[in-house]
Amino acid sequence: TAAQKGGYPSFMAKEIHEQAGAIADTLLGRLVDGKLHLDEKAIDDSVLRSVDKIVVVACGTAANAGAVVKYAIEHWCRIPVEVELAHEFRYRDPVVTEKTLVVAISQSGETMDTLMAVRHAQEQGAKVIAICNTRGSTIPREADAALYLYVGPEIAVASTKAYLGQIAACYLLGLYLAQVRGNLFPDEIAQIMEDLHALPEKIQQVLDASAQVEDLAKDMKDATSVLFLGRHVGYPTAMEGALKLKEIAYIHAEGFAAGELKHGPIALIEEGQPVFVIVPSPRGRDVLHSKVISNIQEVRARGARTLVIAEEGDDEVLPYADVVIRIPQTRTLFAALLTVIPLQIFACELATAKGLDVDQPRNLAKSVTVE
Ligand code: AGP
Repeated sequence: TAAQKGGYPSFMAKEIHEQAGAIADTLLGRLVDGKLHLDEKAIDDSVLRSVDKIVVVACGTAANAGAVVKYAIEHWCRIPVEVELAHEFRYRDPVVTEKTLVVAISQSGETMDTLMAVRHAQEQGAKVIAICNTRGSTIPREADAALYLYVGPEIAVASTKAYLGQIAACYLLGLYLAQVRGNLFPDEIAQIMEDLHALPEKIQQVLDASAQVEDLAKDMKDATSVLFLGRHVGYPTAMEGALKLKEIAYIHAEGFAAGELKHGPIALIEEGQPVFVIVPSPRGRDVLHSKVISNIQEVRARGARTLVIAEEGDDEVLPYADVVIRIPQTRTLFAALLTVIPLQIFACELATAKGLDVDQPRNLAKSVTVE
C-alpha cells in the first residue's frame, strides 16, 4: 500500500533511500574495545586461521556483492577468494577441502541454488558462513555460522539495500579474518572501521543528490541499450548496474571490465550509445584511475555518450564526460557502496518513467526457491 511505501512511488525507491540507515545499522556495535565482534560467529578462530581459500557462492545481485568483496578480502587477508555462481559451483567438481571457507551470500536465505551449493560444500568438509538478511531462514540455519545484515525487510524484487548490506557485512568478515589471522595491525583495522563508519553519511549525500540521475533516467526512457564499464570494484558495480536495468526496465544492458573493451565489446560502440563509466578514486591505487580515463576516451572517440560516475574533485574526467555524476571521496574499496547508488536510482526511475511495475517485474520472483 501507499503508506507502506512511505511516500515513495515504489518499494524499490523507498529501499534505495533507506540505504544510509541500513548500512549504519549493519555496522553498529561491531568494534568494541578495539576488537571486532561478530556475535553470530560459530566457527572457531583456529579453523579461520587454517583456511587456505575462500569460495563465495551466491546468485544474481548477491553474487555481484561477492565479486566486490573479493577485492577487499584478498587485499586485507592475503587469502585467495573465488566467487562463483552457486549453480555453477554445485554442478561441476569444485576443489573444496576442510580448509576451504565457503561464504554463502543470500538476502532471503531461501535461494535453492545457493542452498544446494552450501550442502555440496559441507559434504566435502568445508565450513560455511552465511551472509544473510532473513533471520532463521534455511541457509543460515544450515550453515556453520551466520552473519546477518540489519537492513530491514526488502520487498522489491530488485535488490538494493541488501546489496549494500551484503558488501558491508562481508567487509566486517574480512576485517575479522585479518584480525584473527594477524594480517592487519589493530590500529589499521580501527582506521578502516572509522572509514567504514563514515560511509552512511556519504551514502546519504549521494541520495540527496538523486535529482540529477532521476532527470537523466527520464530523458533516457526510450534507450534500447546501455553499457556499463568499470575496473577493480567498479567492474562488479558495472555488472550490478546492468542487472538492475535489465530486470526492472527491460532494457538490454551489459556490464564489462573496462580493460576488456578492446577485446571485443568496443565493437558495439556507435554514435550515441550510452555508456556509464565508474571511475575509481584518483587518490587510490597507482594507475587504476588513469587506465579508466583512457577507457572513457576510447569509447567517446567512437561516439559513445559517456555518463561518468567520479569522485568529487576529480577534474580529469571533465574533458571526456557528457554527464558527470559525483560521489564523495572514500577508499577505493569503499567506493563500491557509493557508485552503485546512482545506477540503482537510474534503473528505478527509468522503469517508473516507462510506466512499469518496478517492484514486481515480469517473470521474476523475489526469492527463487526452485533450482
Ligand atoms: C536482484 O535484484 C535479483 N532480483 C536477484 O538477482 C537476487 O539477488 C538473487 O536471486 C539472489 O537472491 P538471494 O540474495 O535472496 O539469495
